[in-house]
Amino acid sequence: MKVAIASDHGGFTLKNYLLTHYHNHDVVFEDLGTHSEESCDYPLIADALCRYLLAGRAELGILICGTGIGISIAANRHQGIRAALLYGDDAARLAREHNNANVAVFGGRTQKPEDVVRYLDIFLSASFEGGRHQRRIDEIDNKGE
Ligand code: RB5
Repeated sequence: MKVAIASDHGGFTLKNYLLTHYHNHDVVFEDLGTHSEESCDYPLIADALCRYLLAGRAELGILICGTGIGISIAANRHQGIRAALLYGDDAARLAREHNNANVAVFGGRTQKPEDVVRYLDIFLSASFEGGRHQRRIDEIDNKGE
């Protein structure tokens, strides 16, 4: 499986931690930046990853900013992107099983790296359940139509 990953400067250290941790893993990570601790704008980072994902160039995405909040808001403006800030084991599992989240979001300044790895492992191994959950996702996508 190919997973695209991107962060702003607030998530740079955590992104590097994840890239090191998942090196030689059967999940292949594509690093879309940022590539230094220099300040940058999280909406542009979110847009780049979402466009990459929506073009079918990766199956799932990971976005990281300082809190995970700004980059979640930006990512969820894209139709077809379901970005979920993963804050616990159950949330990580249910984000896939119920919400079919295609982007896992983390806070580089608010979450412990070892917790993030655990949430990500759970997220990556869970599957969407479909059924009534698909109906609800359709209701999100068709809002206002
Ligand atoms: C950057 O300083 C910070 O605002 C950003 O990383 C993020 O936390 C926004 O939600």
